[in-house]
This record gives sequence, structure tokens and C-alpha cells, in this order.
Amino acid sequence: MSNHPPLAGTIRKLLPSETSAFRDHLLRLDKDSRRMRFAHSVSDTFIEDYALRMNDMGSIVYAYAEDTEVRAAAELRKLGDRWGNEAEAAFSVEHAFQDHGLGTELMGRVIRSARNRGIHRLYMSCLAENAKMQAIARKHEADLKFEYGEVIGEILPETPNYFSILAEAVDDRVGYMMAVFDLQKRLVKAAA
Ligand SMILES: CC(C)(COP(=O)(O)OP(=O)(O)OC[C@H]1O[C@@H](n2cnc3c(N)ncnc32)[C@H](O)[C@@H]1OP(=O)(O)O)[C@@H](O)C(=O)NCCC(=O)NCCS
Repeated sequence: MSNHPPLAGTIRKLLPSETSAFRDHLLRLDKDSRRMRFAHSVSDTFIEDYALRMNDMGSIVYAYAEDTEVRAAAELRKLGDRWGNEAEAAFSVEHAFQDHGLGTELMGRVIRSARNRGIHRLYMSCLAENAKMQAIARKHEADLKFEYGEVIGEILPETPNYFSILAEAVDDRVGYMMAVFDLQKRLVKAAA
């Protein structure tokens, strides 16, 4: 268990203009978390390229933002050019912020977004040794398949309804306001 104080930030979608905050978060992941996130060791250059492509890939990225920094992220990625029946999810939480329920909370948001886009099958892959990720996937009723040192989790989101769509829309409104506040704080910090 980390000794980080209770969480004071917010979970919201990242705006397309926030690729640098996403990049900085991924760069701050410790060596082991980077390997768990990408299933192999990756360099800073790899992460910089990866974060830059966030918008090109049309991914939805949820983030936990605290004090102008992104500390955790969850990506919902298309498996083709457009949203189809299937999509993929990936998660990253900085070491000091792990074990505070962020991974679980972020997975809930990603599943809801997948549901609202009519996705029938959501995949999550992680290394076989990644017990934490598997615990979270199980909490969300994923079917886990173990193969060749990897685990593929398969989640079948429910059909969208009025409430799931409304809940995401309300979150988006609040999230947008928080993003604007964070941007202002970042500008003030940079000018200081
Ligand atoms: C995996 C990761 C996303 C989890 O995020 P997190 O915010 O720490 O997770 P949570 O706090 O929501 O939940 C962790 C759960 O794992 C459980 N857990 C912790 N250590 C465990 C272990 N060794 N074995 C089994 N379960 C474990 C916790 O008890 C908790 O479940 P609970 O809430 O029911 O008690 C985070 O550790 C991370 O970013 N790791 C590096 C990147 C990565 O592995 N990404 C996943 C591949 S895409």
C-alpha cells in the first residue's frame, strides 16, 4: 500500500490539447509499471511518440488529474478506423497513486464509454504476473484467458440506455469545466 494522502483530484476525459499532460504521466511511470503497461520495456522516445498519437488514434482517454498533473490514465482504443463491435482498454497509475481504487474507478468509466458506443466486446491484455490488473478485471466480471505469459480479459458491456448515456454526458460537462480550471492553473504555474 502506498502512503499517498487521500485522493483530492478528479477523474475526467482528457481534451485533445492535453497530449503533453498524458505524455508526462506516462514518462513518470516507474520501470516496472512501464513494462506492465506496454508488456515490454519502453524508452522515453517510444512514450513521447505514443502519447502524440493519442489524437490520431481517436482514443478516449480518461485521466485522474491532481494539482495540474495527470497521475493515472485509462485508454479506450478502437480496433480499426472507427468504433466497431470491439475495442481495447489499457490502464496506467503512477506508483504513489496505486492501491487507492483509481484503476477500478477508471475501468468503470471505460466500460461505460464502451457501452455507450455500442461496443460488444472490450479487451484488456496484461502480463500473466500482473495480479492487480487481473483483480480489477475480475471485479468488472471479465472473462480471463491465460496464454503464453499474457492474460486477455474480455468484458461484454451491457446495451446502452438513457441513464448510461446521460451519466457520461453529465460527467463530460463537469470534466470539461475541470479541464479548463486545470489549464488555467497550468498557465499560472508556467508564468510564475
Ligand atoms: C494495474 C493498475 C492499473 C492498478 O491500478 P490501482 O489504482 O493500483 O488499482 P486499484 O487500487 O483500483 O485496485 C487494485 C486491486 O488489486 C488488488 N491487489 C493488489 N495487489 C494484489 C496482488 N498482489 N494480487 C491480487 N490482487 C491484488 C487490490 O486489493 C485491489 O482490489 P480491491 O480494491 O478489491 O482490494 C496499476 O497498478 C498500474 O498502473 N500498474 C502499471 C501498469 C499496468 O499494469 N497496466 C495494466 C496493463 S494495461
